Amino acid sequence: MIKVGVVGGSGYTGGELLRLLSIHPEVEVVWVTSRRFVGKNVSDIHPNLRRFIDIKFTNYKKENVDSVDLVFLCLPHTKSMEIVKDIYGEVKIIDLSADFRLKSPSTYEKYYTKHVCPELLKYAVYGLPEINREDIRKSSLIANPGCNSTAIILGLYPLTSLLEDKIVTIDIKEGSSASGRSPSISNIHAERSHTVRIYKPMNHRHLAEVKEVLGISNVSMSAHAVGMTRGVFATIYVFGDNIPSEKEIWKLYRSKYTEEKFVRIVNRKYPPYNLPDIKGVVYSNFCDVGFRVDKDNNRLIIFSALDNLIKGAAGQAIQNMNLMFGLEESMGLWYPGFLV
Ligand SMILES: NC(=O)c1ccc[n+]([C@@H]2O[C@H](COP(=O)([O-])OP(=O)(O)OC[C@H]3O[C@@H](n4cnc5c(N)ncnc54)[C@H](OP(=O)(O)O)[C@@H]3O)[C@@H](O)[C@H]2O)c1
Repeated sequence: MIKVGVVGGSGYTGGELLRLLSIHPEVEVVWVTSRRFVGKNVSDIHPNLRRFIDIKFTNYKKENVDSVDLVFLCLPHTKSMEIVKDIYGEVKIIDLSADFRLKSPSTYEKYYTKHVCPELLKYAVYGLPEINREDIRKSSLIANPGCNSTAIILGLYPLTSLLEDKIVTIDIKEGSSASGRSPSISNIHAERSHTVRIYKPMNHRHLAEVKEVLGISNVSMSAHAVGMTRGVFATIYVFGDNIPSEKEIWKLYRSKYTEEKFVRIVNRKYPPYNLPDIKGVVYSNFCDVGFRVDKDNNRLIIFSALDNLIKGAAGQAIQNMNLMFGLEESMGLWYPGFLV
């Protein structure tokens, strides 16, 4: 059994991670931390976990790291790096925040703040198994990707060779759980539901990951908050001359994803589910990708959908854990989502 500790377990990614860990056949959750809920049952805060995670929240203590094989960090960015600085080398770490996703300290500083341990950035592996599987197996520090970044990168990855002379524009729509469990005015039900709100017209932090991982620069992104609780839907427009035919694009997608368990190419005959749809992925670890070639307008349109808390966070973290510990990659994750 892999013994794990979860730091920041009272939030949304922490809760989803605990749910998935509780049904994983090779994992024992040894401790879960929270600052606000020390001494309370985990299931007082995550009622769905009653009878599955029957332990209490504790304070984070460095010495507790000795009792586990793996620590998951489900903390806000800038908080994870303080802990990684303290424990790197003593235990395997999967960090769900953005603190180790970027290789360049100056890019991190531009989008976040000054890094407290920039010397460790080079040891972190960007935890997207479909791209970095072999490095993940050998790593002891995984930077789990962002939810939007995962959707975008998986949508574009097979096509990177085509993108150099193109303009790429990304439109993101995401659900409220992507903002975490801490309350803010924009997250109150009355303000957030039944609307579409542009919350980041430009300079979204996840774009830095996309550029670095795919090695492209001609790309921009706008992100909208929409009235669903889970899900990220990316519509990616690629403009330029010489857009390949549908057949060629199919070939590129198939060459990368035929063997991938958690990426499904959705390009079917009959609506409404002929292209990726949030309904097809929520509560699962799948990312569905699809495309259309709009020859009349020199445009390729890519669609990518996932559950932000699973393939966009906790599920991907477990996929990474499975790889790091030599387990079957889909262990504990092989189930479909819920349609309604
Ligand atoms: N939500 C998503 O869809 C998603 C997807 C991918 C990645 N992520 C990333 O995953 C991380 C966690 O996100 P989340 O959505 O789970 O956030 P969240 O719901 O706000 O939970 C954050 C957790 O961190 C703890 N925390 C907050 N401030 C802290 C501080 N200053 N020091 C120590 N602990 C602190 C909180 O616990 P206590 O206050 O009880 O200590 C809470 O359990 C973030 O970095 C986020 O960007 C989120």
